Amino acid sequence: MKKFPPLFKGFPQFAHGGDYNPDQWWHDTPDIVDQDMAFARAAKCNTFSVGIFSWGEWEPEEGKFDFSRLDALMDRMAAEGNHVLLATPSAAFPNWMVNKYPQIAKMTSNGVRTPLAGRHCHCWRSPIYREKVTIINTKLAQRYGRHPALAGWHISNEYNTACYCPLCTEAFRNWLKSRYGTLEELNRAWWMRFWSHTYTRWEQVQPGLNCSDGLALDWFRFTTEQICDFMRHEIVPLKQYSDRPVTTNMMGYYPGVDYWRIAEVCDFIADDRYPGWTDLKDFPGTAARAAFCHDMHRAMKKRPWLLMESTPSNLNWQPYYRLKRPGLHRAEELLAVAHGADGVMYFQFRKGRGGSEKMHGAVVDHARSTGTRVFRDVAEVGETLEKIRPVLGTSTVPEVAVVFDWDAMTALNVSGGPSQSRKLVMETILAHYRALWELNIPADVIESRSDFSGYKLVIAPMLYALHPGVAGRIREFVENGGVWVSTYLTAYVNETNLCFLDGFPGGGLREVFGLWNEELDGLTPEDRQFITPAEDNMLGWTGRGEVADFAERIHPEGAEVLGVYGSDFYAGEPALTVNAFGRGFAYYQAARCDGKFLHDFYERLAAKHGVKTLLKTPPGIHVMLREGDGEKYLFFFNFQPKVQSFPLDGITGTEMVTGERVEKAMTLPAFGSAVVRLD
Ligand code: GLA
Ligand code: ZN
Repeated sequence: MKKFPPLFKGFPQFAHGGDYNPDQWWHDTPDIVDQDMAFARAAKCNTFSVGIFSWGEWEPEEGKFDFSRLDALMDRMAAEGNHVLLATPSAAFPNWMVNKYPQIAKMTSNGVRTPLAGRHCHCWRSPIYREKVTIINTKLAQRYGRHPALAGWHISNEYNTACYCPLCTEAFRNWLKSRYGTLEELNRAWWMRFWSHTYTRWEQVQPGLNCSDGLALDWFRFTTEQICDFMRHEIVPLKQYSDRPVTTNMMGYYPGVDYWRIAEVCDFIADDRYPGWTDLKDFPGTAARAAFCHDMHRAMKKRPWLLMESTPSNLNWQPYYRLKRPGLHRAEELLAVAHGADGVMYFQFRKGRGGSEKMHGAVVDHARSTGTRVFRDVAEVGETLEKIRPVLGTSTVPEVAVVFDWDAMTALNVSGGPSQSRKLVMETILAHYRALWELNIPADVIESRSDFSGYKLVIAPMLYALHPGVAGRIREFVENGGVWVSTYLTAYVNETNLCFLDGFPGGGLREVFGLWNEELDGLTPEDRQFITPAEDNMLGWTGRGEVADFAERIHPEGAEVLGVYGSDFYAGEPALTVNAFGRGFAYYQAARCDGKFLHDFYERLAAKHGVKTLLKTPPGIHVMLREGDGEKYLFFFNFQPKVQSFPLDGITGTEMVTGERVEKAMTLPAFGSAVVRLD
């Protein structure tokens, strides 16, 4: 594999820096930028997101613009050799604007317009708001589009939420018209004869009235499309006057937006990740969840991405305000790098004196000191990133992919049942991913529309809904020698949430898995169920799986039984199967089993089908690989709060920060991390 070019042209360094808001300070503290640039040098920060919520500063009155301070800031950044991700300020509108044009405010599903209450208060369709956005974005693009300090564009901020105003409702109906053509077809797709909901006029379609799970699913898709459309609108003037790449900051697996669609609008991927570290019993679990997001962001464009926000220390919006313990900050940031980030940045560079985020972690605290523990932690990351610079542009090409499909998750979540409180789609996907993470098997996180063909093994937990074509592509993948894993609650419905007929898994998958799923037992927390190995099963699986929440009664139609249920009226019936299909294998887990089971299962599977693990390590030790241009880098982490040593199984190299030789064994302190250039 070849190394990728830098995220920002002509900037062959890891980005390190953060959200920077001198506009909150410069009226009263004119030398704030001087102060901050000194801090930036000391912390080895080189990249700043500027102006995210600063519209009122750039346009204090309608049509009156003042860029004098931003001019000076951009020039200063260039002089310092720093880079700026300049924001379009659409995430928060100024007071004067909403006073004069109240219709720019978004409407809740109860028909109330939100005033200037926080941020993200605007409608997606308001022509006036769109025009105001075009004007300010054009000004910014004309003025700074080719500025030497400009690395790229930070479009808005964490786009989210829906608007239910008449304009947005109208747009929804038009979107439905282009999708379904006729009301008759819409009624069919959404099963609207149910409860006499049949539409007879398009005006009856009201997204606020959540009367159909088909509607709820399409409203989710449409909300994503609204955001994409708004983002495309924002980008027009930027592309006209600037040659720098655009992105917007995502929020991991936030359920409200299908980020694969947003990714299509971005030139590069950026994410905000705040692990929190408040689960004291399971630090590795917290790390694995973060890595899951990282692997998705690398997979979205199959290239390095940017961690746009993280906290240098604590968070003010979690239940607890816990400090990062020594080592943890470096491990958290390097974890993103290990999983493909070519830059790590913070919210926020300097802590404000007021406002609701004055307690949020920052590089520069109220004490204004370079001597704080947090400041030193940040500076250490800056130094580390300089030392590991050769890693830049490398990436990972995993043999394994985990499917996390926003549509499939939403389809199940908006459906009534089964077991309303125990669907846990996200948690389930994370549990499967975690087993791979523990086994140090690199994985991409993809969606069901992604290309499966490059992978040896694809795992798609709870892929409840199928887009057209997905079943066919699964079939083709397995026929051509791929190994596929599905679970209970797979392929129950089509893309409009209508159940498949003639037996689950539907869409033609019954044949691929060689089984029929007759019924699903939704267990209460008191129910006890478990699975045990079938004799001489071809996987050689010998453990036991504790079952919770879901257990399907399946009937093999050619599949080989690997495990059976241990209790209740279906004791002895199959619970874990594999079907040899074409040149590949389709596994089916009929029940929700515990993490230990998943770990054992994937360990067996990897051994059986020749999927490589990077290294076998004790619990809490995580290893990840980046490579390119013939160079290989292994990242090591200890996410346990205790020192751990482990053998290296022939791996040799040089630790890039200390310069020490690495061979035979490695010892890492609590929350320790290391980056090794392999020989
Ligand atoms: C989000 C936002 C930031 C800030 C942080 C606080 O990620 O994008 O503006 O509010 O949360 O953690
Ligand atoms: Zn609207």
